[in-house]
Formats: sequence, C-alpha cells, structure tokens
Amino acid sequence: MDVIRTIREMQAWSKERKREGKTIGIVPTMGCLHEGHLSLIDAARVHGADCVVVTIFVNPIQFAPNEDFVSYPRDFERDSALCAGKNVDAVFAPPVQEMYPAPVTCFVSERKLSKGLCAKTRPTHFDGVTTVVAKLFNAVLPDVAVFGQKDAQQARVLQRMVRDLNFPIRMVIAPIVREADGLAKSSRNRYLSETERRNTLVLSRSLKEAAGLVAGGETDLRKIVASIQEKIAAAGGKVDYVETVDAEELEPVEVKSDKPVMIALAAYFGNTRLIDNIIL
Ligand code: PAF
Repeated sequence: MDVIRTIREMQAWSKERKREGKTIGIVPTMGCLHEGHLSLIDAARVHGADCVVVTIFVNPIQFAPNEDFVSYPRDFERDSALCAGKNVDAVFAPPVQEMYPAPVTCFVSERKLSKGLCAKTRPTHFDGVTTVVAKLFNAVLPDVAVFGQKDAQQARVLQRMVRDLNFPIRMVIAPIVREADGLAKSSRNRYLSETERRNTLVLSRSLKEAAGLVAGGETDLRKIVASIQEKIAAAGGKVDYVETVDAEELEPVEVKSDKPVMIALAAYFGNTRLIDNIIL
C-alpha cells in the first residue's frame, strides 16, 4: 500500500494506474476509521474500482471556530493498518499545508441542498466539504467515489456538485453501518460517556418506531417529528433538529405520499452532536 502526501505525487500515481487501464475508486475520510468507512472501501470495489484510494485529511475549513477541529481524533498508524488490512492500494494523507498553502479565497458552494438541516447550526460546513472534496477529486482523479448515507445531506450535496460541475465520477452512496444496538457508527461516538452512549440508543430506536408508524398508515409527518423530539428529550438528549424531507431534494414534507421521505435528525448528548436518518 502506497502512502502519498503530495497532490503532484497522487496525480502521477493515478495517471499511471489509468495508463494501465485501471479504474480508481476514492473513499474520502477524515481518518479515525471504523467499520462504516471499511464498508465504503468494499462498496468502491463492488462498484467497479480496480484500485481504491482512501484519503485521510481532517479538513480545517469544514469546522467552525467553536467546533472540534483541534481535538478531532487522529491516529494515522491505526488508520493505515486498517487500510492495509482491506488491501487498499493507496492512502492519500496530505498535510494541511499541502491542501491549503495559502488562505482559501476560492470555494465550491452548493446553494440549495446545503442550506437546511445541519446547515442551520453549521452554516459554513458544506462549503468546506464541497471545496475539499473537489480538491481531493482533482488530486486523486477517481472514476468512482463512495460516501456514506449516514451523512445524508453531505452525500446529496456532493452528488449535486458532481452533477452540476460535470465531474466525470460515478457517485455511490453506501448504507449506514450500525453498532449491534443500533447506534450509527461515527468517529464522534468515542466522545460519549457510558451514560450518554446508552441514551443515544433513542436515536435509532425512535427512527425505527417512526418507520413502523408510517408503515402502519400514519401520514401526518408532523406527529412523527413531535414524537421523535419528545423521545430524544426524555432520554436526556438535546434536539438540534428532527425533520422530514424529500429524500433527494431535501425539501420539507409534512404528509407522507408514495415519494420517498427521509427523517433526518441531529441531537446533542453532552457536548457530542450526533446525526442519523432513515428513508421511508
Ligand atoms: O465525511 C467526512 O468524513 C468528510 O466530511 C469528508 C467527506 C471526508 C470531507 O472532509
């Protein structure tokens, strides 16, 4: 497995693979890898990547000043061992200075899907994500890119970026990977105390119960939202948002029809903000 630190070397590596007739899959991450990320590596191969490049880069411009950029967990040795164990072909792990040698004045900005949901409390986040992912695409030159459904809004925003800016890349959105008790895997789960960890079970449980209610004929999504909000609060969580939206356009939906609806939520347990979602 090659470990590559510069954009120029990354591009040369990818061009060489392409000359050999191979397709390249990219799995962009911020490291602190868990089974969710490892499932994205598998998905890249399933969706036709001959070579898989995992990028590991904690992207400063997607964190607001009050967020956890400095304390975000970093363990390159562990991450690269996990990648090697999955037969990843290359890890691209550039230093911040390589990605941002000068203050950024040119951003990639999606202007619709990136406005609601998480953007209400993280208004600059998605510009940071689209900008860094565009830069990672230009470094890795992938044919296939894999992102997780757990970050559903991010996935939709990036799909839109690829569509609107004509990146010749096939986007794959892989299913959420959960702990045995239902909590969606996330690098931030490690911040939770034992009690908070137990309390977070309300997230996946209330989403599942909501799906059951809708399957049973409930069409009033405002009731569904209210019941999830109550359950999270009763479990000691602080709701950031619970919303029902069109699963593709992310526009609010209040009545369930035959079109897919996503229930998306974010909540704090202690200082840890977790997100989860389900598509009905
Ligand atoms: O989902 C993440 O880990 C990050 O937002 C991403 C896509 C790697 C961009 O920094």
